[in-house]
Amino acid sequence: MSHDGYARLADLLLAGMERIGFAALRRKLWDGLDAPGESGRLLELGVGSGRNRPHHPAGWTVVGVDRSSAILRRARSRGLELAVAAEADRLPFRAACFEAVVETFVWCEVDDPVRSVAEAVDALADAGRMVMLDHVRPSGGAGTLADLLTRISGPLVGEHWNRDTRTYVEPAPLRTLVEETLSGGWMRMLVLEREPRSRVSPESTTT
Ligand SMILES: C[S@@+](CC[C@H](N)C(=O)[O-])C[C@H]1O[C@@H](n2cnc3c(N)ncnc32)[C@H](O)[C@@H]1O
Repeated sequence: MSHDGYARLADLLLAGMERIGFAALRRKLWDGLDAPGESGRLLELGVGSGRNRPHHPAGWTVVGVDRSSAILRRARSRGLELAVAAEADRLPFRAACFEAVVETFVWCEVDDPVRSVAEAVDALADAGRMVMLDHVRPSGGAGTLADLLTRISGPLVGEHWNRDTRTYVEPAPLRTLVEETLSGGWMRMLVLEREPRSRVSPESTTT
């Protein structure tokens, strides 16, 4: 299935999931961002059809990125003005140009989550916030179910039910502010802060 086709299908599935709890999870996530300041620049990765649009902080400039141009058209129709078609592991932004990065239900789909997190962290300014809400591999028997589902959906459409978002953020220069496991272990919310880049460049220390 094409990226556009699966993005449309995922959006249809999300429409149903919103009613059974996703809408409340989104509210919780955006409360967790606790956007500091009256203005800033926010990057939403894998923005999809713009379901988070009502939660975007007023006064902020929001840039939405998605690899599907078709789904970005829907996001624009929901009022997202800056919608950019790009891959999460090759972002077209300079370093440190966003004060916040948000993603919801995207790391389960990207081909290279570690690289994608690293790209997002590079785009994040020092002390910027990164907020993530994802379905993850639960423990126990439910984990085995997640593995089984992924054996079908992984090769078919690139959807992974058994990923662990912790493993992607651990190598990155991020400090965990909030970590919550929700929905019986199927969901994880993380609020992270970008550690400051070194103030001393390597060149300036050579003699
Ligand atoms: C399950 S949908 C979630 C959409 C939206 N974040 C939401 O919560 O409603 C995942 C979205 O991530 C996008 N996506 C998946 N892999 C991507 C990648 N490597 N780069 C950019 N976008 C990607 C898909 O096109 C899709 O729109």
